[in-house]
Amino acid sequence: MSNLKKFIEGMPKAELHLHIEGSLEPELMFSLAQRNNITLPFSSVEEVRAAYEFSELQDFLDIYYQGMGVLQTEQDFYDLTWAYLTKIHSQNVIHTEIFFDPQGHTDRGIPFETVIGGIHKALQDGQSKLGISSHIIMCFLRHLSEEAALETLEQALPHKDKIIGVGLDSSELGHPPSKFERVFARAKQEGFLAVAHAGEEGPPEYVGEALDLLKIDRLDHGNRSLEDDALTQRLVSMQIALTVCPLSNYKLAGVKDMRKHPLKKMLDKNLKATINSDDPAYFGGYMNENYLAVFDALDLSKDEIMTLAKNGFNATFCNDAQKTEMLAQLESFESQWT
Ligand code: ADE
Ligand code: ZN
Repeated sequence: MSNLKKFIEGMPKAELHLHIEGSLEPELMFSLAQRNNITLPFSSVEEVRAAYEFSELQDFLDIYYQGMGVLQTEQDFYDLTWAYLTKIHSQNVIHTEIFFDPQGHTDRGIPFETVIGGIHKALQDGQSKLGISSHIIMCFLRHLSEEAALETLEQALPHKDKIIGVGLDSSELGHPPSKFERVFARAKQEGFLAVAHAGEEGPPEYVGEALDLLKIDRLDHGNRSLEDDALTQRLVSMQIALTVCPLSNYKLAGVKDMRKHPLKKMLDKNLKATINSDDPAYFGGYMNENYLAVFDALDLSKDEIMTLAKNGFNATFCNDAQKTEMLAQLESFESQWT
């Protein structure tokens, strides 16, 4: 293995774009199905993996919503989150900001409290037992109505202490950020930070709406921003970070050849790009695999790898003292590297 690959694997990292339901590995899916007496439409783990062939975002979303059906109890959400934490611990991720999709569960009759309770308990254990700090971001499903999102926001208010921000995910095309302008205004009033998926499949105009109407603090994906120079310059001058997800872009066919991934262009244009895994159980890799995929395909330098890792820490929703402390860990790792 090249030296730089070991550097990538060993360096401390932050993850900022991770759907916890997208970390459900087929093995856990089967054991939870058994525990909850649910029959899956697959007969083996291999069959599940073979079904993970997607030609666009919606293909993935259909199977992702089906998969999360095995999550029923608080213990299930705990086990899901704990499995993710132990995995990223082995990859030297020291801070993570995870999304969850409450409507994917409440619409199946699972109480909001069950979901947030299990996730939050596991994250607390992640801090005390693994030293991983974390935040929770609650996403609204954009294919559902504004009214449903407002209801979900109300359900979240008693748990404000556990949730740092709101996000927007699911089927992008045909569901522009403008649909949720009032929801995000209300969320901001309540003190939540804001992020949104935009420019993953949708046009650059959706990114503009996310900035202007949703007042986002960070942009999820944002790949298609590059089609609009003025928008790109705006993102640079606003120092808005982009949570880029290389293997997701590849698996969902936005990027057909990893050598054509826009990450290098983003860095060259001084966009604050970061590396993340999105839905690692479905797209074939956690943080290290995502870093290594772009490192190999784009021939990134050590300086570029360091820039990506620093961007990650700078773009967290942590206070300045914690950011400084995490950046110092990264620099100390680099200085000890031979
Ligand atoms: N939900 C989970 N992963 C997603 C993605 N990549 N885009 C939109 N919604 C999602
Ligand atoms: Zn995502």
